[in-house]
Amino acid sequence: MTEKREYGDDYPDKTLYIPGPTEVREDVIEAMSEPMFGHRMDRMTDLYTTVVEDTKEFLGTDNDVVVLTASGTEFWEASTLNLVDENILVATCGSFSERHANVAERLGKNVDRLEYDWGRAVKPEDIRETLETSDTDYDVVACVMNESSTGVRNPIEEIGDVVAEYPDTYFVVDAVSSLGGDYVDIDEHNVDVIFASSQKAFAMPPGLAICAVSDEAYERELETDSASWYGGFQRTIDYYDRKGQTHSTPAIPIMLAYRKQMKHMLDEGHEARDERHHEMAEYTREWARDHFGMFPEEGYESQTVSCIENTQGIDVAGTIETVSEKYDFAFSNGYGSQLGEKTFRIGHMGEHDVESIEALTDAIEDVADL
Ligand SMILES: Cc1ncc(COP(=O)(O)O)c(C=O)c1O
Repeated sequence: MTEKREYGDDYPDKTLYIPGPTEVREDVIEAMSEPMFGHRMDRMTDLYTTVVEDTKEFLGTDNDVVVLTASGTEFWEASTLNLVDENILVATCGSFSERHANVAERLGKNVDRLEYDWGRAVKPEDIRETLETSDTDYDVVACVMNESSTGVRNPIEEIGDVVAEYPDTYFVVDAVSSLGGDYVDIDEHNVDVIFASSQKAFAMPPGLAICAVSDEAYERELETDSASWYGGFQRTIDYYDRKGQTHSTPAIPIMLAYRKQMKHMLDEGHEARDERHHEMAEYTREWARDHFGMFPEEGYESQTVSCIENTQGIDVAGTIETVSEKYDFAFSNGYGSQLGEKTFRIGHMGEHDVESIEALTDAIEDVADL
């Protein structure tokens, strides 16, 4: 039985270097404290249409964009219900991609896994071979773009190009911890559905899920019996087209924060944002290789979350705790019992820059006596 632990008023603020939530700008936090208004008022239409159209512009996509009160998890479920009649192929290479497969199983779909050891990346040629040789007709191929548990960035552009050769198979990408910090040309690479959570590289508070949906995926939903109500592409997109609003009451304060932050993201532009993330990732990898090693297969390291192999056998949990106490910086241990002490993870996403990441690596060097 869980017992109540009264929430207090005096927690020290920690700078977040975990793989999300990440740091949120002060004016974005402040944007949430406006008096409430109704979700059917014109003001809501102004807010939601701004949020949706600005997101399309930032992502550089002509596909429809849905911003829903939920976390990214919603779109594991909704994309499966909306697009999969029977068969889905999920490439699994870590905890989150495995969970995607579990969700689809729970929904009663026939799930085939293309399994990789943790730390390895999904290869387009394996996807091609599976699609070419399998007797199963897959409704969906699903792949995580950034496997947050292992710090692997999968080559979803090349995988999308392979899936494009199979017009009856839809390509679903979990980009929860990378979209907004690692640019992908959605339209060019046949990505039918790509989704993210607001608290990761978008650097917003948690509570909204962002999803871009191709016209083909929208049409496909008409043919499936199991389409989701809450995350149905038709319901969400049609409601937007008719009214410029969401089908049910959204988390208005977080939408206000979203609007503010998306303006910052547009001011920076996706190319500059991508480049800044690239620089942070390069810096972190270089530091990691000087002192430890990188966990992911070489050439597939994430641009937003570095998973560092603890080759020195430092006390990961102890280091995290002392860095937190002494510097008020929070970073993460490895994922689950398998990687807990063998790796640690630094989230270099959102509004961080090389300088702020250097402050963390200096702190780790001090505490772990590197
Ligand atoms: C790759 C990936 N997919 C899905 C999720 C689930 O996202 P959420 O907790 O926002 O629903 C996470 C969360 O960390 C993730 O990293």
